[in-house]
Amino acid sequence: MKGLVLSGGKGTRLRPITHTAAKQLVPVANKPILYYVIENLARADIRDIGVIISPETGDSIQEALGDGSRFAVEITYILQAEPAGLAHAVQTAQPFLQESPFVMYLGDNLISSGISSFVQAFQEEKLDALILLKEVENPSQFGIAEIDADNRLVRLVEKPQNPPTNLALVGVYLFTPAVHQAITRIKPSWRGELEITDAIQELLQSGNRVGWRALEGWWLDTGKKDDLLSANTQVLDEWSVREILGEVDEDSRVIGRVSLGVGSRVSNSTIRGPAVIGEHCLIKDSFIGPFTSIGDHSRVESSVIEHSVLLSGVGIFQVDRLEDSLLGRHARVARHNRHRSLQLLLGDDTVVEF
Ligand code: TTP
Repeated sequence: MKGLVLSGGKGTRLRPITHTAAKQLVPVANKPILYYVIENLARADIRDIGVIISPETGDSIQEALGDGSRFAVEITYILQAEPAGLAHAVQTAQPFLQESPFVMYLGDNLISSGISSFVQAFQEEKLDALILLKEVENPSQFGIAEIDADNRLVRLVEKPQNPPTNLALVGVYLFTPAVHQAITRIKPSWRGELEITDAIQELLQSGNRVGWRALEGWWLDTGKKDDLLSANTQVLDEWSVREILGEVDEDSRVIGRVSLGVGSRVSNSTIRGPAVIGEHCLIKDSFIGPFTSIGDHSRVESSVIEHSVLLSGVGIFQVDRLEDSLLGRHARVARHNRHRSLQLLLGDDTVVEF
């Protein structure tokens, strides 16, 4: 069984972060999303992994994952010249996949459960495809499955205007090589992409065995800011631990599951977990509330931050309250008492809400 991780794409919904960084490398609880993906495959003993990359962000993905030895896997990089759809990515990976069955895993998806039981079911039931389904509140934004009274999969539709159910396709799929022939028989959708839902629908129609399982636990698709913040909350809530490697002075309080990296200093501040603060940060005269992740080399002074993700090198100064925010590398937010007006220097596609 091989793995195929999709780490190309445009990431338009996560701009401006994705103007300069790959969506899959945005950190959740200070760890790139893609690491959780590779670790989950490795836990299911899937060691031969192809990673789809784009010309724009491929170098940074390769730098982050290397040859895979750090995860005890072997990685082969596969360049997809343009983001022409998930099925197009599979087509591009065919020389790597050859006649092997494989798990396809979207590089921006996080699930709480392992995948070994799905791999086992797929093999034991001799399926051509196994998909995972999860109930969602906004089905018109997902690929959706229709199930009959006997729990059999009837039909799949991509982002339907009138969704037949609220069962969305999770970004983890298992296939035999039968999917390659199915992909040759589908046409690009109205948005110009070769859709994996159409390929699975084609497998169904041509009499292949397509099974499904309900996914227990959470599933987070980190495509947009609020999804990313939810992912950060969920991961900190469930997986964070207390580990204080930095310095905390006697005027500070660090409460609950807080991880403070090497070389970081907390002075006259309160940090309430679950929260993670990277290495070489300074937190001074501030309150850091729950569900906050702060990247390495950041500085927070005389400010209150809650439920936010700060990438590395961020500076926050004299900000009364910052919440539900995602700040890219080296972003700086400072209040100058002298000025009542907002004074901004914002990059393309930046959003300011207050
Ligand atoms: P999407 O989130 O559906 O697409 P996207 O990354 O282009 O984002 P947006 O809609 O915001 O512009 O992609 C899901 C995952 O699959 C993501 O990790 C990117 C990856 N992907 C590819 O590798 N190749 C592709 O052709 C596409 C469409 C996505």
